[in-house]
Amino acid sequence: MKYAEIIKRMTIEEKAAFLSGKGEWQTREIDRLGIPSIFCSDGPHGVRKQAGAGDHLGLNESLPATCFPTAATVANSWDTELGEAMGEALGEEAMALGVNVLLGPGLNIKRSPLCGRNFEYFSEDPYLSGKIAASYVRGIQSKGVYACPKHFAVNSQELRRMAMNAVVDERTLREIYLTGFEIAVREGHAKTIMSAYNEVNGTYANENKHLLKDILRDEWGFDGIVITDWGASNDHALGVAAGSNLEMPNPGLGSARELIEAVRSGKISETDVDERVDELLDTVMTFNGNAQKKAGTFDVDAHHEIARRASAESAVLLKNEAGTLPLKKGTKVAIIGDLAFTPRYQGAGSSLVNPTKLETISEIVGNYDLQVVGMTKGYSRSGEEDATLKKEALDIAGRADVVIYFFGLNEDSESEGMDRTHMRIPQNQITLLKELAGVNNNLVGVISAGSAIEMPWNTHFKAILHTYLCGQAGAGAVLDILTGKVNPSGKLNESIPLRLEDNSCFGYYPASERTSEYREGIYVGYRYYEKAGIPVLYPFGYGLSYTEFKYSDLEITKTGIRVTVSNEGEKDGAEVVQMYVGLPNAGVFRPEKELKGFKKVFLKKGESKKVEISFDDKTFRYFNVKTDSWEVEEGDYDIKIGGSSADIRLTASCHREGTTHELPYNREKMECYYTGKITNVPDAEFKELIGGEIPNGKWCGELGVNDAFCQMYYAKSGLARFVYKSLTAMKKKADESGKPDLNTLFIYNMPFRAMAKMTGGAVDMDMVQGIVKIVNGHFLSGISGVICGYFRNRRQNREYEKKLKV
Ligand code: BGC
Repeated sequence: MKYAEIIKRMTIEEKAAFLSGKGEWQTREIDRLGIPSIFCSDGPHGVRKQAGAGDHLGLNESLPATCFPTAATVANSWDTELGEAMGEALGEEAMALGVNVLLGPGLNIKRSPLCGRNFEYFSEDPYLSGKIAASYVRGIQSKGVYACPKHFAVNSQELRRMAMNAVVDERTLREIYLTGFEIAVREGHAKTIMSAYNEVNGTYANENKHLLKDILRDEWGFDGIVITDWGASNDHALGVAAGSNLEMPNPGLGSARELIEAVRSGKISETDVDERVDELLDTVMTFNGNAQKKAGTFDVDAHHEIARRASAESAVLLKNEAGTLPLKKGTKVAIIGDLAFTPRYQGAGSSLVNPTKLETISEIVGNYDLQVVGMTKGYSRSGEEDATLKKEALDIAGRADVVIYFFGLNEDSESEGMDRTHMRIPQNQITLLKELAGVNNNLVGVISAGSAIEMPWNTHFKAILHTYLCGQAGAGAVLDILTGKVNPSGKLNESIPLRLEDNSCFGYYPASERTSEYREGIYVGYRYYEKAGIPVLYPFGYGLSYTEFKYSDLEITKTGIRVTVSNEGEKDGAEVVQMYVGLPNAGVFRPEKELKGFKKVFLKKGESKKVEISFDDKTFRYFNVKTDSWEVEEGDYDIKIGGSSADIRLTASCHREGTTHELPYNREKMECYYTGKITNVPDAEFKELIGGEIPNGKWCGELGVNDAFCQMYYAKSGLARFVYKSLTAMKKKADESGKPDLNTLFIYNMPFRAMAKMTGGAVDMDMVQGIVKIVNGHFLSGISGVICGYFRNRRQNREYEKKLKV
């Protein structure tokens, strides 16, 4: 152990207390041994350092920091060099604000378009997610700050996110849900990882030895620290034994007492504790050194420019009929839409950033060579029809050459803490767009939305630019694209289906019981649509440019591919060359093809470049559940090169020797996985996939400490049902107000045990047990448990504090 000397001098009380947070964002210092405290802050697309009261829900203000576009946006750039530049800026800001660990990026896979946090995640594809995440990590960590890829792993649903068991087969786990993290760890060298709230196959992610030890540390060589998501610790001792270092945020000393008790009872060994302390000390001591270099400021303007570049490179041009865009100089335009005045440029929840400045279309459109005939909000953000606003909009639309309509998802549509129930934009925005198209058919749509939406109205537009959530500098970037100063080069990080029902997990998501069954297996996003032959509106990897690219001369070499890409249009521009790999007639079921490489290349008008994409350890591999290892099936692989998953320009074949001697699956027993018809997987086939019985997720009997508050509707106690009703009423009121109430949402989805994990020691697990007894209708024994527990907890906390002061 690197810090054996210090560890030898630490008491068991100090070690145990060191392994959990002392407040919302900080770890405990131990002054007598010169061990400092370190500071963690969100976030993934901008630093959220709170100077005053801390919270993990984005409620209290934070210090100003650059609000970059969110992960879902930047993933559309397919540009790892950009990710690194943004990471460096994030690292500099974190350093300047005294933050040691930046809690991001988030790279959970977009299993369903409905997940409320999709705006914070990169893609439906693990390879793209991993590559962009790794680039952020490299950038952030180059500045002496640690990145914290999250949420490890299989955290795809917000509903009861802390009390949810993801039931997923090992192959899907490895190929879809872990590959992105693997890349972030192996190529980004992430020094911290955040464990997810949920269980994975019956064991909390934070206690999951398979995830944290076998895979993360032993297989991937992770040598940093594992930090729990805020309140994600269930049993701290089991977490420590599994390889988790730091329980956050502030469980008080209850968790530390449980840890000591676990060592005394032999449940875990003191060596486990020492190893975790050693790893955490390594982090803390490294930061101590880094902090000396700490600058007090950062370059606000330069970082604003990076945010603008990120936004410009990430916007996706979905449609452009008859060269409607770019707009010619002097075009008479009508600017319509509330989002042009009050942009929606970031998501909600723990990633909320207090921007250093904020551009809006309405304020800066005057700087461009356009004749603005009028600007109006057009619709109300509340969703109500507003005849006055509509009339204004139709009036100015009639006077313009081109109408630019800014629309999309409102704040209440997507947020941490809740999932969407549909993929539609508000009806009043749709009604207006149809009427605008009736008045002026030169309609250009500019969408703000952090996740995929249904677009049945797309035919009304001549051109559509999807800006996702474009950060504080987004308005300038959008106008640069509309006027042709910037040639769009974004490509979709996710498929946009025709309708929600087409999604592979439509029938399984969100799980309504304790288990979330990943019956669709590896068929997520384009992997499913292609296999099952389901048409989509806009495919994965799609995005238009103002110029044309030609592909030629594809060569397969020993180590990869070489292809010539030429810019044959009239403008300089960038193309994302995508490499997909498929194995026709494979013995092991698999998608038609999968993304295995990409490169963004900038080409001047008329220029050609040879683009090389290397094969790597992931190009031909699949996870064999029989041998429990990565293998290659022998065969002639198709290497498909193109500008999107649906725009394959060149294909070549490449033979690969295999390592598979025995196929892992019996086709006859799992036909649906071979055909890709996985929307209604029979139990027998799912059992075959997971290799065992399907866990029973039914809620029944008494509630336990790990059940969520929202399950109190069936509690035996009338008091508990009353609390449930009040909570539900509060949630409903917030839903109706148009702004999600994150506090209520958090409590609603939170399990009882979290009371002991997030109240700074005011409540401990004994008291939680008492509360659960009350909920289950055992009022007298429950209340006496709570009261006795209260006094015992206070006494034990005081005694512990004394020992820490020695
Ligand atoms: C979120 C994390 C976040 C943490 C701290 C949690 O609720 O899931 O992503 O980093 O809070 O704010």
